[in-house]
Amino acid sequence: MTKRLVVLVSGRGSNLQSILAACRSGQIPDTQVVAVISNRPAARALELAMAAGIPALTVDHRDYGSRTDFDAALQQQIDEYAPDIVALAGFMRQLTPTFVQRYEGKLLNVHPSLLPAFPGLHTHAQALQQGVCWHGASVHFVTAKLDAGPIIIQAAVAVLPTDDEQSLATRVLDAEHRIYPQALAWLVSGRVTYAAGRTQWRDPPQTATRTAIAPSLESSP
Ligand code: GRF
Repeated sequence: MTKRLVVLVSGRGSNLQSILAACRSGQIPDTQVVAVISNRPAARALELAMAAGIPALTVDHRDYGSRTDFDAALQQQIDEYAPDIVALAGFMRQLTPTFVQRYEGKLLNVHPSLLPAFPGLHTHAQALQQGVCWHGASVHFVTAKLDAGPIIIQAAVAVLPTDDEQSLATRVLDAEHRIYPQALAWLVSGRVTYAAGRTQWRDPPQTATRTAIAPSLESSP
């Protein structure tokens, strides 16, 4: 049966676009994005959803007095679409443990760093500040602790001496667009699941759990 995917967004929606393309192409098999929900009414991601003929809704966090109230309203909206999977795609709100627990094992997030390095905001600035050689992106199951759930896939991106926040962000975003559909495809097919606080594999992927997406270093001095 076709899996029902709800995508939560806050802004631009480039990850949403990559997920939609992967559903269309069959990279994420037998899956339909049944709703896109934003906490910000002006999110461009909502326009993308509408253009794709997908219900695009806003639950504006400013209309609620507490995180608990906002999450309850969000949950109600999500549940109207009876999703098998809920994907956070640039959704910039911390979620309460009650919310997270309700969707345990079917709530995924993409984060622009090689977790557990640099949880939270401003990951590219932090990577440059720390002088790391490798940065990247992670897709993980969402648990109550921010950006700390079990990892499904990561992509490594080399940090170049010439990088600034923008150039690094561009390459990391490209990595996000590659790994999020892959993680969703594994979840849909049951190849990856969440149990006992860990990522569990059936027939673990041989080569792709960590994918270096970097400019060739061979020609570097
Ligand atoms: C992505 O880098 C995501 O990892 C971060 O916010 C950005 C959202 O981009 N949490 P988009 O809205 O998917 O284009």
